[in-house]
Amino acid sequence: MGVFITFEGPEGSGKSTQARLLYERLQATGYPVILTREPGGTRIGEMIRRIVMDLRHTEMAPTTETLLFSAARAQLVSELVRPYLNTGGIVLCDRYADSTFAYQGYGLGRDLDELQAITAVATGGLMPDLTFYLDLDVEAGLRRKQAARERADTVGAGSAQRPEWNRLDARDLAYHQRVAAGFAELMRRDPARWRRLPAEQPVSELAEQIYHEVEPLLRRVALLGSQG
Ligand code: TYD
Repeated sequence: MGVFITFEGPEGSGKSTQARLLYERLQATGYPVILTREPGGTRIGEMIRRIVMDLRHTEMAPTTETLLFSAARAQLVSELVRPYLNTGGIVLCDRYADSTFAYQGYGLGRDLDELQAITAVATGGLMPDLTFYLDLDVEAGLRRKQAARERADTVGAGSAQRPEWNRLDARDLAYHQRVAAGFAELMRRDPARWRRLPAEQPVSELAEQIYHEVEPLLRRVALLGSQG
């Protein structure tokens, strides 16, 4: 069994950047590693992502939303995450089940036991070895994300570089604050798995701290080409 690491945090916390930097460093060192994201990461999951993020889908019921995130997760775990972990590799994932507890549970008020049951079905009980929480004030995060979009517009960046503004970002500040409080509660309940790091520091310093936390787990992983 390999190593499973996830990244969580509010909008604009830079978790996707950090996940990519960790991926690049591990790959350059010669570790077997993949980087994926939720919702998405598979062909089917990316199709579900488009449905769930679409700003026009204002009529989407909370149950539908919850099941769609979980369906994308089920596909990701079965198609990508489990098979790769079984080869002894490292899987990095930008968001995972904790997001469902924080966003649909604490944010939307879905019953947490029910979410636990749905998540167990979707993941077969697979939980990360380590989860980073990039901590950032909710308002600052939403501002950062909007500023990044405006910058991308000014320089005429292609849509791939332009951070999306999705149906979930568009929810009100109180919602995002409930989500942040939810993450705090999740961390309190399972402190051994979480590493909470301040997001507002230079990108390279944060990357160093993350690598430092990951290093002890790397003993479990064989470098590529090192096995007979
Ligand atoms: P993400 O792609 O990480 O976007 P961002 O970088 O803007 O945070 O996540 C997409 C959105 O989906 C984000 O608002 C969090 C939300 N989400 C849920 O509500 N539940 C979930 O289970 C997951 C995985 C994400």
